[in-house]
Amino acid sequence: MFAFVNTPRNEIPIELREVAEPQAADHEAIVEVQAFSLNRGELALLAMRPEGWRPGQDIAGIVVKRAADGSGPDAGTRVVGLAEQGGWGQHAALPTDRLAVLPERVSFAQAAALPMAGHTALRILRFGDVLLGKRILITGAAGGVGRFAVQLAAREGAEVTGVVGRPERAEGLRELGASEVITQIEQAQGLFDVILESAGGASLTKALHLVAPHGTIVVFGNSSGEDTPFNLYHLFGHEGMRLQTFFSYNPGTTTTLSADLTSLVTLVAAGKLTAPIGLETSWHELIPTLTDLQDRQIQGKAVFHVS
Ligand SMILES: NC(=O)c1ccc[n+]([C@@H]2O[C@H](COP(=O)([O-])OP(=O)(O)OC[C@H]3O[C@@H](n4cnc5c(N)ncnc54)[C@H](OP(=O)(O)O)[C@@H]3O)[C@@H](O)[C@H]2O)c1
Repeated sequence: MFAFVNTPRNEIPIELREVAEPQAADHEAIVEVQAFSLNRGELALLAMRPEGWRPGQDIAGIVVKRAADGSGPDAGTRVVGLAEQGGWGQHAALPTDRLAVLPERVSFAQAAALPMAGHTALRILRFGDVLLGKRILITGAAGGVGRFAVQLAAREGAEVTGVVGRPERAEGLRELGASEVITQIEQAQGLFDVILESAGGASLTKALHLVAPHGTIVVFGNSSGEDTPFNLYHLFGHEGMRLQTFFSYNPGTTTTLSADLTSLVTLVAAGKLTAPIGLETSWHELIPTLTDLQDRQIQGKAVFHVS
């Protein structure tokens, strides 16, 4: 079969090569991948992982071999999944607790957009508890996680302000539920009950001034790569505020990935959540898209069909 492999020493960090079929552990199903998507976090992984490593987290496809332990869906079932690696190939082995059954009404492309960005949005919003009537500020709102978070927060009755890097990046955000879209966090008015922060650096420093007493800042990314200077003295005026980190591999939650993926595909099937696909193309276009995502040219998710 063919799959993308990591080539971190080359100018182009991945290559499509003929590779061995994945070997499934007892709790893993083999999925014929129909579509996958790309995450900003994976750009960093490509630089960190060794030559020959197989990248790819977000996949949608058809189970071709059920897990040997009998868990998970039967062969022939349409599924969506969040792999730890190896998803950018014709076949992938996934633990069954990282898979969800895909309703017929949800396309493989829609499904492939969901796993990492969608479940992250779901889980970071849970730190806000009941969202009805709360003011929520979302940095990186034009990105994959941002566009899911805007929709999920607005659905719960929150008043959502999105921060984008430039005016054209605001496209579609009001339709997804944002009440306000600003191009610099400095333009934000008033205090916020929940701030979802992923830009880091100066953006997080400013967020520390914008959180309401007893409010929560969820720090889940550092897209700028910058350090965040702040003075603890500034926090004293924000009584009871919470600075909450989130990392997908150690989420501090009891819900399984399978359950969260099922929630997301159910919302999409019901027309209550839009998969924010900014680019849908063949997997042969993956290499140039790595640069486009890095350069903030993709509106939401980039999705690739596997052939
Ligand atoms: N903790 C976790 O488990 C977890 C899970 C998923 C994602 N993440 C992190 O969350 C962040 C968002 O992920 P994503 O997949 O939604 O990425 P994405 O689609 O690339 O979106 C990132 C957004 O961040 C904005 N941004 C602001 N300042 C930036 C800067 N200096 N450099 C690059 N982008 C900047 C961009 O806004 P404009 O386009 O408007 O300029 C872009 O839309 C990333 O940092 C990712 O690593 C963490």
